[in-house]
Amino acid sequence: MKIGIIGSGNIGGNLGKHWAKAGHEILFSSRHPDQLKDLVRETEGNAKAVSVAEAWEANADAYLLATPFNAVDKIAELYAGEYKNKVIIDATNPYPERDGQMAQEVRDSNRNSSEYVATRFNTARTAKAFNTIHAQHIKDMAWRNVDKVAVPFAAQDETSKNVAAQLIGDIGFEPVYAGDLAETTKMEVDQEVYGKSLPAQELRQLM
Ligand SMILES: NC(=O)c1ccc[n+]([C@@H]2O[C@H](COP(=O)([O-])OP(=O)(O)OC[C@H]3O[C@@H](n4cnc5c(N)ncnc54)[C@H](OP(=O)(O)O)[C@@H]3O)[C@@H](O)[C@H]2O)c1
Repeated sequence: MKIGIIGSGNIGGNLGKHWAKAGHEILFSSRHPDQLKDLVRETEGNAKAVSVAEAWEANADAYLLATPFNAVDKIAELYAGEYKNKVIIDATNPYPERDGQMAQEVRDSNRNSSEYVATRFNTARTAKAFNTIHAQHIKDMAWRNVDKVAVPFAAQDETSKNVAAQLIGDIGFEPVYAGDLAETTKMEVDQEVYGKSLPAQELRQLM
């Protein structure tokens, strides 16, 4: 698959490296793609650094959204209308102390943060994944053949569900389906499965 990484920091950088190693084509992007040269150098496989606009224009099979939550509005404003109906895997979390008032408003609303992102991007193909697992665990706990760590995910339609499950499984994690985006409350900050790096059976008991 061709995968556009929107936000190539702790989460986007580590996932992009794993996916490249798994044989996917990776477009790392951020507002400063020139600062992603080391990341590209460290990546085994097919990867390059591009601007956020170039990543969207590349018509990737899937996009990972891994920016601070407060960047969602701006990115959607710039790109959503034109590039709607892409598969977007949303790994973001709203933290008011980092993201400000808009994150507090989303937390206080009756919508999950994943539903907020799906609405902003105007796509029916949003999945939520990798927001519950610490970046260091993404780095260190991938590629297991046994005792795999489960990664919960939710999805809006069959395409986003299949893509997210594949991309979790391809790097040695175990995909555990949590339901559609309305079901992602348990994946939100400090909720049932947040921060839990567990085998699938144990994770399911918390859901
Ligand atoms: N760290 C974790 O353990 C963890 C775990 C689960 C989920 N998350 C969530 O995942 C998201 C990313 O976290 P992180 O720790 O990976 O953050 P990070 O290391 O700070 O990386 C964020 C990336 O987003 C880019 N970025 C920021 N604003 C942008 C914009 N407007 N347009 C395009 N790119 C932008 C940054 O690069 P530029 O500033 O150069 O653009 C950087 O590459 C957050 O929502 C976080 O809550 C984090």
